[in-house]
Amino acid sequence: MEYTINDEKLRQIKDEVLLCKHCDLYKGRNGNEFYPVIGEGNHEANIMFVGEAPGLQEAKTGRPFCGRAGKILSELLMSINIKREDVYIANLLKCRPPDNRDPLPNEIQICTHFVERQIEIIKPKVICPLGRYSMKFLMEKFGLGEKVDGISKIHGQMFKSGTDFKEIVIIPFYHPAVVAYNPSMKKILLEDIKILEKFK
Ligand code: URA
Repeated sequence: MEYTINDEKLRQIKDEVLLCKHCDLYKGRNGNEFYPVIGEGNHEANIMFVGEAPGLQEAKTGRPFCGRAGKILSELLMSINIKREDVYIANLLKCRPPDNRDPLPNEIQICTHFVERQIEIIKPKVICPLGRYSMKFLMEKFGLGEKVDGISKIHGQMFKSGTDFKEIVIIPFYHPAVVAYNPSMKKILLEDIKILEKFK
């Protein structure tokens, strides 16, 4: 396949992430031979998912959503006949927070220019934040701060960007890891994901 300008721009981001020492999370990678997780998928995807931060499995492999939560995400995509390779999957934070703790405000502030640039390059039609941290960050970024509410209230709803990016739609989803703690949630996630059929 031809090497595109998007491939090159995303490769530059990868190079920068590998050298980044702007917050303390990089320290966790060096000692443990963990990798940062930049993102993967179609560099011209219509649909982009943004999770929170790599977990243990992701840091070991450098691939987003390849552990337990990833298995759920793959199942959700399969249920509407979308292949993982057709979407782009990234995270708010590129390095794993110790013990899978929640992202800290300063880490979000420091790291998210990477995901912002990934969005600008890929230009997806729809961005699906997975979980409350990325929901809040992305809705605020796209001028939807006033519509931010609990994920249990706005999951699966479509929000049209209130900024210059008028063509972008944000659809927040529960983080797929909820299914590991509460298997009955899978039904809700399977219902919510159907909304993506129109963006294939
Ligand atoms: N959880 C996330 O938010 N991102 C991953 O990549 C894996 C688990």
